[in-house]
Amino acid sequence: MRVGFVHPSEQEFARFLDYYRIRWVYEPNSFPIGWDDGRVSEMFTPDFYLPEYDMYVELTTMKQSLVTPKNRKVRLLKELYPGVNVRLLYQKDYQQLLVQAGYGVLEVLDVHHLRKQDIQQILISPTELETRVRALGRKISRDYRGEAVILVGMLKGITFFLADLARQITIPVAIDYLALARYAGAQPHDRVTIVRDIDIPIDGRHVLLVEDIVNTGLTLEFVMNRLRERNPASLEVVALLDRPTRRLAARPLKYTGFQVPNDYVVGYGLDFRELYRNLPFICVLKQGVYQGLGSRPASPDPAAPK
Ligand code: IMP
Repeated sequence: MRVGFVHPSEQEFARFLDYYRIRWVYEPNSFPIGWDDGRVSEMFTPDFYLPEYDMYVELTTMKQSLVTPKNRKVRLLKELYPGVNVRLLYQKDYQQLLVQAGYGVLEVLDVHHLRKQDIQQILISPTELETRVRALGRKISRDYRGEAVILVGMLKGITFFLADLARQITIPVAIDYLALARYAGAQPHDRVTIVRDIDIPIDGRHVLLVEDIVNTGLTLEFVMNRLRERNPASLEVVALLDRPTRRLAARPLKYTGFQVPNDYVVGYGLDFRELYRNLPFICVLKQGVYQGLGSRPASPDPAAPK
């Protein structure tokens, strides 16, 4: 079933239900829970309805800012509609269930010498990455039909994304890499520089710049300007992750995989001090994990240059 899930955790929960062959409906009903002058002022739409259990399920993460208002809504719903069976389910609880079903993502943590409690939240699971990358590959193949394209990957965060994406593209592609040196900005003359340039001439050719995450957009801006000087026939961007809240240089991204919040993320190519690139999902680590890794600030600032 194709459903426009609002949050990836909902998609994962739907997969979990499918796995157990439990029938579900996504957001079938909205219940009025607040009135103002006799007019409905607030509605609550639980995420799922499970007809066989006659039960509504509302999913929530551990974020207290989300849990408290959700708890209130669930409580109101129960009070106002005593006949309605509704449960609040924490993401960590059903992720645990997914693991028990041999279907989850947390079991790989042991392999990666990470403890479950090191992970604050898994934002994007391996399956979601795979599904989205496949869709991006299909779209790119359609958009550039009849052409060849040069994929230019920005090392090293694109390691897995580029490898997976390229194999989902069905038109001819050439692959090249670009590496930047980023400095902490200690010296006024420290500037971002290209330390490994592409080998393939791009003059008159279609170029697709592959980025792991676009945060401020300043890295992208710098690279786009350098590449544009070489007169490609076209120059577009495919970014796995987009963090629009941090954007300073507002260049439109033609293709994006997922939007992520402000928290620093690792996995599937993205690192913290060169570690965690090989996690098969994208996650936010607990503060303590970053602290244990040395002298960097406790909370890595996504806006800070590397
Ligand atoms: P921008 O120039 O601020 O857009 O930063 C983009 C670069 O910063 C990316 O290519 C990443 O290498 C790095 N970066 C930004 N945010 C994160 C993050 O959450 N995790 C890992 N790397 C990040």
